[in-house]
Amino acid sequence: MSEAAIREELSLLAKSLFKRGYSVGTAGNISVRLPDGYLMTPTNSCLGRLDPARISKLGADWSHLSGDRPSKEVFLHRAVLTARPEAGAVVHLHSTYATAISCLAPEGGDAEIPPLTPYFVMRIGRRLPCVPYYRPGDAAMEPAVHEAAKGAKALLLANHGPVVSGATLAEAVHASEELEEAARLALLLRDVPGVRRLTPAQVDDLLATFG
Ligand code: 13P
Repeated sequence: MSEAAIREELSLLAKSLFKRGYSVGTAGNISVRLPDGYLMTPTNSCLGRLDPARISKLGADWSHLSGDRPSKEVFLHRAVLTARPEAGAVVHLHSTYATAISCLAPEGGDAEIPPLTPYFVMRIGRRLPCVPYYRPGDAAMEPAVHEAAKGAKALLLANHGPVVSGATLAEAVHASEELEEAARLALLLRDVPGVRRLTPAQVDDLLATFG
């Protein structure tokens, strides 16, 4: 896909996320790996109104080359994309239910989202680490995010929100949507007795087939 086509796709998918309430105001940021660098949503931009031509372009060394000033979370995206060479894109949102889970999960541990439905397991996998709280834009979080991302496609930033990687931009967006739905189900069913989870054998089967 050409860079121009990726810019268009990024704007369309970001707008779709915004319209469905996955981000509000200027929250959230998205990056895409290119053969010669990275695309990154500009800082303080609204995901619902991105101009494809003004999306930030960063070089292979992560320096700002063109477009508007990149997200203050560049280092967050760098931490994930360097930890996961197979990842082609990263989506960071403040989507309500995943963010609620980020306020419950133990900092430095794994969030407890039970395997209730297949698509959460298929798109996110077994683990959802929760990186301790850092102020948005604080570069000090990069090592902790990098370590967490080595073992998981998605992670939570404590009291902040989800960060999801995918082989392609579309995959990262779809996985972000699945994470939000799984978080919503987990909270809906949190104290409901008799909830049936997928069994470990069913989870293994899903990961062996689709993982
Ligand atoms: P930026 O506007 O700099 O991308 O920051 C938004 C955000 O979501 C911070 O976590």
